[in-house]
Amino acid sequence: MTRFARSRCACVALLAGLLLLAGCERPPVNSVQRGYRGTGMEQLYNPRVVATQTAANAMPADSPMVPPGGPSAATTFKNVKVVGDLGVGEFTRLMVSMTAWVAPEQGCSYCHKAGEDFSADTLYTKVVARRMLEMTRHINADWKTHVADTGVTCYTCHRGRNVPANVWFAPPTDKHAAGMLGNHAGQNSAAPSVGLASLPYDPFTPFLEQANDIRVVGHTALATDNRKSTKQTEFTYGLMMHMSKALGVNCTYCHNTRSFAEWDASTPQRATAWYGIRMTRDLNMTYPLAGVFPADRLGPTGDVPKANCATCHQGAFKPMYGASLLKTHPELAGVHATVTPAAPGPELSATGAVLYFAVGSSALTDETSKGIAQLAETLKAIPQAKLIISGFH
Ligand code: HEC
Ligand code: HEC
Ligand code: HEC
Ligand code: HEC
Repeated sequence: MTRFARSRCACVALLAGLLLLAGCERPPVNSVQRGYRGTGMEQLYNPRVVATQTAANAMPADSPMVPPGGPSAATTFKNVKVVGDLGVGEFTRLMVSMTAWVAPEQGCSYCHKAGEDFSADTLYTKVVARRMLEMTRHINADWKTHVADTGVTCYTCHRGRNVPANVWFAPPTDKHAAGMLGNHAGQNSAAPSVGLASLPYDPFTPFLEQANDIRVVGHTALATDNRKSTKQTEFTYGLMMHMSKALGVNCTYCHNTRSFAEWDASTPQRATAWYGIRMTRDLNMTYPLAGVFPADRLGPTGDVPKANCATCHQGAFKPMYGASLLKTHPELAGVHATVTPAAPGPELSATGAVLYFAVGSSALTDETSKGIAQLAETLKAIPQAKLIISGFH
């Protein structure tokens, strides 16, 4: 080779190298040791990615808790089937919060048709929301093995959107099935669902809806007892890529890579993830609401949108990095609020009052008018008093 040709080769190689590196993350990348030294149990964090994720996983504004008690929603209203146990004050606050979490732009009329009685079930969104209330309580009460006391609220998945940002559908059948290019067999597409790998891009149907087992590693040194196929292994890796991406972690957050199968050498988080897989299956099997959603919400094969790890986690190892809205919304765990009044000042103590209008009328009852007059007198005497008013009519 002449010297000229050789240097051109080097140039091409350098250029190719630069192009390849363009797909990599620019340094610095931080690493954190999470396991015994020498075992490679490291987490890699790109500070720029962490910065955007932190913003996306911040806590929203919340309204102050209201005292429990008073007449129950079930007896006050006409058609409250799930959260009828709440007091009217708690119920009203929940409606206001649900609006902020799921339909901040549309308001109450996203679920209650404007001009109609609130008890009517006209809109599908209200029917879905009622089932979502049941689902949220079910997660918080029966899946503590995964969500602990942190729990979830509508905000965990919805984050101010009508439909959560991360849902999945069964993919359409492969267009190339009988064509010249051959059948992709549901893989080799650098799909975002599996972290842009060429792995099978629907690991959700077999593992997060159906209950196929996620065991592929053999138990003997030689291939004697292992009946798992390469395809099954690829599906398993597809799911693992999704889990890592959904949580923003490396495989070593859960596994010691010396043996992916062994539980003894895995981290405690792997056990939490094991329950997470079962919980997600349960949600997708028990709450599908087929027949309720309009056509524009359905997937290419007509199925309803479903949940995976990213629906709640959205890139964080714990949704919202472990911050909990359930603490100020115990009603979503089916627990009644115990309100600790704000710390009293020298001669002040916090107090709450619930005032009612007569149903279907804007007039105050005599008793309520008297109560308000008294409250006003008391407040005039305490100029530093702060008052929080919330409610609806
Ligand atoms: C995301 C959907 C959604 C939004 C937004 C919403 N609601 Fe509701 N609302 C419901 C559901 C679901 C029920 C029934 C709950 C049940 O059955 O336990 C309900 C029931 C009610 C009831 C009881 C009516 C009756 O007589 O049975 C009232 C009152 C009410 N909502 C008021 C409001 C107000 C006021 C707002 C806005 C601040 C609001 N809702 C926003 C879903 C919603
Ligand atoms: C585990 C995650 C999760 C939680 C928690 C959750 N949702 Fe949803 N929600 C979904 C998913 C996923 C969908 C898409 C359709 C489906 O499968 O029901 C959805 C759809 C909806 C829709 C239909 C929106 C549309 O425009 O089609 C409404 C309304 C809704 N949720 C209300 C609520 C309310 C109210 C709460 C809290 C009581 C809540 N959701 C809690 C995941 C969640
Ligand atoms: C959030 C925790 C978590 C992360 C991150 C994770 N895994 Fe897993 N992995 C699990 C759990 C849990 C199981 C067992 C699932 C079951 O039995 O239902 C498992 C099972 C496996 C298995 C099958 C083991 C066997 O018994 O045959 C392999 C292989 C595997 N993971 C590889 C990976 C790879 C590769 C990555 C990174 C791309 C990864 N995992 C990331 C939790 C995780
Ligand atoms: C319904 C919402 C929801 C879904 C869906 C969900 N998680 Fe979680 N997950 C949570 C919450 C909430 C926590 C925090 C629990 C706590 O504070 O200990 C959590 C915690 C975890 C942890 C523990 C993290 C740590 O550092 O201790 C792991 C691992 C995890 N989830 C994995 C998964 C995997 C894998 C999936 C999908 C198969 C999944 N989760 C699906 C809500 C969810």
